[in-house]
Amino acid sequence: MFALEIIAVIVTLLIAVSIVWSTLKVGISPMPSSSKARQAIIQLLPEMGNKPIYDLGSGWGSLVIPLAKKHPNRTIVGYEVSFVPWLVSVVLKRFFRLSNVHLYRQNFLQADLSEAGVLICYLHTCGMTALAEKLKSERSCEGVLISNTFGLGDVQPEQSVQINDFYKSPIYRYRLNRDVK
Ligand SMILES: C[S@@+](CC[C@H](N)C(=O)[O-])C[C@H]1O[C@@H](n2cnc3c(N)ncnc32)[C@H](O)[C@@H]1O
Repeated sequence: MFALEIIAVIVTLLIAVSIVWSTLKVGISPMPSSSKARQAIIQLLPEMGNKPIYDLGSGWGSLVIPLAKKHPNRTIVGYEVSFVPWLVSVVLKRFFRLSNVHLYRQNFLQADLSEAGVLICYLHTCGMTALAEKLKSERSCEGVLISNTFGLGDVQPEQSVQINDFYKSPIYRYRLNRDVK
């Protein structure tokens, strides 16, 4: 029994260290979007089009999994650098048998985003700056970017909503290749 407890403590510590390490590396924890933010994001999804939806920093899968269930014929892609959240999202994908979800343990700044119809993110100011630079320099995405809480600097969104949470968090929608250039 004592050995099992030691193993449980070591595993818990390793998980905590892994999450803290990746949080320090990318500047944001894998905190999921709130349910109100998720609803607002889903409402801001463009009605037309069937191109893939990418979650840039997909965390525990709290957005990609419901999106994949809601849109079974649409490809949902998640990029996540933090190992434990990524692993949990892979387990959830297998558990729900969601063949339309593709989860990569990779930095999205080094990924090809040109196939995406919708980019979704919940990052931080520096992360948004880096993403804006990538989108401006590559100019390869045609769809929309939906961002929870953080805007793209001085770029004007085509639409924004304020959710009814404690922080009155904004959700922005940008038209890529029109607003971001
Ligand atoms: C606040 S969480 C959002 C999780 C999920 N998208 C949601 O809205 O529920 C942000 C996630 O982005 C990941 N992340 C930040 N920068 C990244 C990068 N350059 N490449 C891949 N993942 C990144 C973090 O590890 C973290 O898990």
